[in-house]
Amino acid sequence: MKLSTIVFSIVAGLVIAGAGSAKAADIEGIWAKQCASCHGKDGKGNTKAGKLAGTKDLTDAKVQAEIKDDQAVKALKEGIKEKGTERFRMKPGQGLTDEDIKALIAHVRKFKG
Ligand code: HEC
Repeated sequence: MKLSTIVFSIVAGLVIAGAGSAKAADIEGIWAKQCASCHGKDGKGNTKAGKLAGTKDLTDAKVQAEIKDDQAVKALKEGIKEKGTERFRMKPGQGLTDEDIKALIAHVRKFKG
């Protein structure tokens, strides 16, 4: 391999890695804006709104085990309603793409230990 090829590969790799971290920052931003009010920055749900809504501790392995990915996608698209009422315990996400939803669920999974 020529040296110029090697240098090009390294630069391309850095650009791709950089794009990845920019995306991760977006998810942090969405979490802070749309989710942390209830779930808390740390996922523990130890906030005023979280206690009112009845959020569970997302750092708890048992809580994580009960969350199924497809059900979580539905929760983010449609929200979670109080049983038998039209009142939302968790509002649907605002302006989220399928990619955002996938990344947010991956973010939620990271709270587990
Ligand atoms: C108004 C408060 C509130 C906000 C804001 C909120 N949630 Fe929730 N979330 C809840 C409640 C309440 C539950 C249900 C807890 C339970 O009973 O299992 C929940 C459950 C979840 C679950 C588990 C769903 C399942 O299938 O069991 C995920 C994942 C989740 N939230 C992610 C998010 C994300 C991502 C955001 C931001 C886009 C968000 N939440 C914003 C209140 C909120």
